[in-house]
Amino acid sequence: MNEPLTIAMPKGRIFEEAYELLIQANFDLPETIDLSRKLMFEVPSENIRFILAKPMDVPTYVEHGVADIGIAGKDTLLEQQRHVHELLDLKISTCHIASAGLPNTVLDEIAPRIATKYPNIASAYYRERGEQVEIIGLNGSIELAPMIGLADRIVDIVSTGQTLKENGLVEYEYITDVSSRLVANPASYRMKNERITDLVKRLKACVK
Ligand code: PRP
Repeated sequence: MNEPLTIAMPKGRIFEEAYELLIQANFDLPETIDLSRKLMFEVPSENIRFILAKPMDVPTYVEHGVADIGIAGKDTLLEQQRHVHELLDLKISTCHIASAGLPNTVLDEIAPRIATKYPNIASAYYRERGEQVEIIGLNGSIELAPMIGLADRIVDIVSTGQTLKENGLVEYEYITDVSSRLVANPASYRMKNERITDLVKRLKACVK
């Protein structure tokens, strides 16, 4: 039998939507899987191996070729600029990146502080606008930063807007759309082209 196709899937809330899309595309996959601890599972009938990674690590696995393809957020792809081919917008896990802060606040002219887990996206955004800012890198709970005076604005994902609301913040600037994308390792794309092209075609038919 040929080598399996290894797919890097994002763990957590994106997983289910992504897995469901593969089922809709007629891949013969178990309906339920116990994901509590397992980080890798094989589906012999499809000759597919799944690895479950932190969403932000999916492009790393794919770039290094230990996964042939993966499902990654556009936010992560923009932030990391890894050497992977973006094959398809799956139009799932849609949200956007925005700047936000306490209501009715204006930014200081001199280097306002921006807290974010997307330092590259945030830097590029303000640089393009000719605004000089100080970027403060955080790994999560970004909304805390303006509330406790660590930053003047945040640059973060907004999905339902609930987190901003519950923390008394408002959105200021819409920066970019985000959704999950199918990406491929460039060498795998050449070597396993037939399988990957077939998968893209089947997924494309299910994208809403
Ligand atoms: C993301 C993001 C926001 C929240 C937005 O955080 O950083 O905090 O979701 O979603 P909402 O608009 O629907 O409220 P995540 O849950 O990934 O956790 P994090 O704080 O660890 O980044």
